[in-house]
Amino acid sequence: MTLQLSSPAKINLTLRVLGKRPDGFHELETLFERIDLCDTMSFGLRLDGQIVITCANPAVPTDSRNLVYKAAAVLRNKTGCMAGANIRITKRIPVAAGLAGGSSNGATALVGLNRLWKLGLSRRQLVAAGRQIGSDVPFFLYDTPFAIGRGRGDVVRPLSLPSKLWHLLVVPNVSMYTPEVYGGFKIELTKPNRDVNILVRLLRKDRISDAGRCVFNDLEHSITSINPKLLTLKHQLEKLNSKGVAFSGSGPSVFALAESQKEAKRLHDLLDKRYNRVFVVKTL
Ligand code: C5P
Repeated sequence: MTLQLSSPAKINLTLRVLGKRPDGFHELETLFERIDLCDTMSFGLRLDGQIVITCANPAVPTDSRNLVYKAAAVLRNKTGCMAGANIRITKRIPVAAGLAGGSSNGATALVGLNRLWKLGLSRRQLVAAGRQIGSDVPFFLYDTPFAIGRGRGDVVRPLSLPSKLWHLLVVPNVSMYTPEVYGGFKIELTKPNRDVNILVRLLRKDRISDAGRCVFNDLEHSITSINPKLLTLKHQLEKLNSKGVAFSGSGPSVFALAESQKEAKRLHDLLDKRYNRVFVVKTL
């Protein structure tokens, strides 16, 4: 039996950092949005008990550093299952870009292996396993386009919103190391009174134009001090008359909220020649 599953990316429409926690992580309040930029994963049973990951993209590790491998290890630990698997990842989501591709693959592996190995774990149990793998993993286990993430980002409350949002997404060719970005965060450089609930209210009413003014990312200062050119890119996008622009996660990806597919395509055509990874994406 081979199982094929899609593994989507996310962006953070808002990302508020509330402070550093005793465990070294940062306390967050974020609005996650699942987008239609997806990897594909296939799962096949192996009788020799090995976990074999393959991926044509050399930037993706296929050993124990891959969150897919961690997902398999956590599941085997929890259940005592000794089965093996061949897991193939077809990558479309840019790696280390703030789009949580690796975390999404980890979440999809939890779902895929639960089925492949007939473990019968509930969503609640998968979410508990997801938390052990990474902060962004639980969001992908809820099967919801939008959710509020609190704690490390791992405490997820699904939101039912009517909006289907269109975005232009630019993924600059620079590497951002998440711990370095969080390490450079300074609470005194964030803007006060930014409230995710304002954005949620506007999205409930589908007021996209106003919603754009409410996207933000408290990591922006840290991201742009590591690489000042990223601020130029953000300003460039803002000038192109998009509704709102922000970094996703710990960067370097920048997204613009567009009013329509047509507008997202217009922005795409303007930037496509200047940057080599420019996507039109929408809520999934
Ligand atoms: O949970 P995850 O493995 O994605 O986190 C990667 C790194 O990002 C952590 O080791 C930590 O340095 C930083 N991080 C943080 N606060 C969060 C999430 C991540 O400081 N809420």
